[in-house]
Amino acid sequence: MLKVENLNVHYGVIHAIEDVNIEVRDGEIVTLIGANGAGKTTILHTITGLKKATSGAVTFDGTDLLKEQPSRIITHGVAHVPEGRHVFVDMTVRENLEMGAYMFGRKDKDKIAARMDNVFEKFPRLKERQNQLAGTFSGGEQQMLAVGRALMADPKIILMDEPSMGLSPLMVQEIFSIIKEVNAQGITVLLVEQNAKMALKVANRAYVLETGKIKLSGDAQELLHNDEVRKAYLGA
Ligand SMILES: Nc1ncnc2c1ncn2[C@@H]1O[C@H](COP(=O)(O)OP(=O)(O)O)[C@@H](O)[C@H]1O
Ligand SMILES: [Mg+2]
Repeated sequence: MLKVENLNVHYGVIHAIEDVNIEVRDGEIVTLIGANGAGKTTILHTITGLKKATSGAVTFDGTDLLKEQPSRIITHGVAHVPEGRHVFVDMTVRENLEMGAYMFGRKDKDKIAARMDNVFEKFPRLKERQNQLAGTFSGGEQQMLAVGRALMADPKIILMDEPSMGLSPLMVQEIFSIIKEVNAQGITVLLVEQNAKMALKVANRAYVLETGKIKLSGDAQELLHNDEVRKAYLGA
């Protein structure tokens, strides 16, 4: 479904991503784990066109995403939940969700209403507080809103950048159960995480990124029990 092939990305002379290959198949949860600065966000930004690749290919259902405008990526069914959530703090919950459906245009009111119902069903808390300003939300609630906003676009795949960052353990549990639920409804997930333990528990397959290179990859359960992974990422 999503294929990243021989990807290289630079920031000036810094070679941030080196010959990275990642494949995400339809219906999977694939996680990309790695320490701070490993290059996780750079890979997501390259997929969504926010950062230009030096070389390599990114294809989604056969479409060459590297040739697309960032604003057009979503029309192919690729939604991005950015690191740090980036909800619109001065807008209400409802307005934030509407922003997630901007590509449908104003004509498609029915579609937007149906997507909104779907999101409210999944997140009753967002429904209850739909007229509240997003800036008044807790970190966990903002993360839910960011996921809800991505779902408004009716995506085939969601790219999530460290959704658990800065959240309380209870909220982390909740976010990960939301990820599983979203996936169970047929949406493919590429999950970027520093929380390797939680990510490996929910994922089907995983890639371990170290200073811009894929160090290990494979079945998530196997990596959870891999000695190298345990020492470096699970504190065991
Ligand atoms: N805008 C930028 N300019 C220069 N270097 C950057 C920029 N963004 C990221 N980097 C560098 O690229 C590397 C990967 O960063 P990033 O993709 O943010 O890692 P991660 O998301 O895994 O924490 C780091 O060495 C970081 O310092
Ligand atoms: Mg990052």
